[in-house]
Amino acid sequence: MKNTIYAKRRKKLLSQMHDGVALIPSAALQMRSNDTEFPFRQESNFYYFSGFNEPGALLLLCKNKKSNKTVLFLRKRDPQAEMWVGKRLGVEEACSVLGVDEAYDIETLEEKLSGLLEGHLNLYLDIFSSNSYLRQAKKTAEKLSHTRDIERSPHNFIHLLPLLETMRLHKEPYETEQIRKALSITKQAHHAAMAAARPGMKEYELQALIEYIFKKEGSPHDAYGTIVAGGNNANTLHYIENSAVLKSGELMLIDAGCEWDNYASDITRTSPVNGKFSAPQQALYEGILDAQLKIIKAIKPGTSKQKLQAKSELLLTEVMRELGILKGSLDELIEKKSFKKYYPHGIGHWMGLDVHDTCPYKDENGKDIVFEEGMVLTIEPAIYLPLDDMEIPEAFRGIGIRTEDDILLTSKGHENLSLDIAKSVEEIEKICAMDYREFI
Ligand code: GLY
Ligand code: MN
Ligand code: MN
Repeated sequence: MKNTIYAKRRKKLLSQMHDGVALIPSAALQMRSNDTEFPFRQESNFYYFSGFNEPGALLLLCKNKKSNKTVLFLRKRDPQAEMWVGKRLGVEEACSVLGVDEAYDIETLEEKLSGLLEGHLNLYLDIFSSNSYLRQAKKTAEKLSHTRDIERSPHNFIHLLPLLETMRLHKEPYETEQIRKALSITKQAHHAAMAAARPGMKEYELQALIEYIFKKEGSPHDAYGTIVAGGNNANTLHYIENSAVLKSGELMLIDAGCEWDNYASDITRTSPVNGKFSAPQQALYEGILDAQLKIIKAIKPGTSKQKLQAKSELLLTEVMRELGILKGSLDELIEKKSFKKYYPHGIGHWMGLDVHDTCPYKDENGKDIVFEEGMVLTIEPAIYLPLDDMEIPEAFRGIGIRTEDDILLTSKGHENLSLDIAKSVEEIEKICAMDYREFI
């Protein structure tokens, strides 16, 4: 049963806690404009431990010497509210559906918190958060601290996020299945966009096609704002305006990925608007692709993101030297970090429930996190060559290329989870020549 996945995670977190109570709030609805809200997206830590997709909830993991219990506060059923905005799970069903031990109406939080916190010294929570339920818990702890006739009240506040984020670093097989599902839809969308692109189209037309496929295939949302960047727009790293005309002879950079069960996919492909790479475009593209393949090949347990970063800087500097974009000796260019002008970001990031998963890159001693089986990260080397940079040879000005895949660490090495999304020049040109309807 799906809820055993969440119960196991709660048990694991409890096993890492001293006596005390951990508090994990849900996301809240965010107003977009009067009487209308942004689409709801659950807070990733809350979802990781509950599998519950409603706002207005707080999860408590309580541990004492004798026993542990999980308590969920959530919105009660309300026929009037449900008539307007949809069904709620409600308090009565929460224990059987979500596998928590106790469930209460969130409106009773203030009155029930004292009883739940009394007797515990430690509160585990995001100490930097201004979430209203966590503020309520701190207020309750303060009140308890002034109450004379109780044995113990909470006065150690322990930052919960490092514990949670370290757990989230290793993906369970269930989690990689969700990422695979997201990627299967993302693949369809990228292939459809490559095939549909025509000179004269607006970038947002391809965005609409991509997001149509996400929705049609059952993904409730993209994992981040879709980027469709024609020509020089690719040199704006998080270009989401998507309003320009796509031109013949230009490349287009598409960075788009859907969510599945709140798990992200994060894929970039760069392809020719008219279906054929020009010679300079191909030379640069293949240089970056070759670097990406070498970096991915080096991924295995025991190495680290920092080592891959250094490798990417070396490989991309070599590419830029060979094409006359950077001039000077390799050592000098690396020493001066000259590549940063055209490759300004990192080689990748953790990915999971968040597209930029919040897991650590350094351990508590400040040492680089060493790769282990189950971790998932993106690999996204890029070179951005702005149109107005006169130091760049003319043939390359106005080209921005990034290629991005999602990689799973396995016991012996890695698996590229997005291996079947067209990437070589030959594969991309083949897809570009197809009818986009084949991918819908
Ligand atoms: N799509 C955001 C990123 O590649 O990091
Ligand atoms: Mn990324
Ligand atoms: Mn991306």
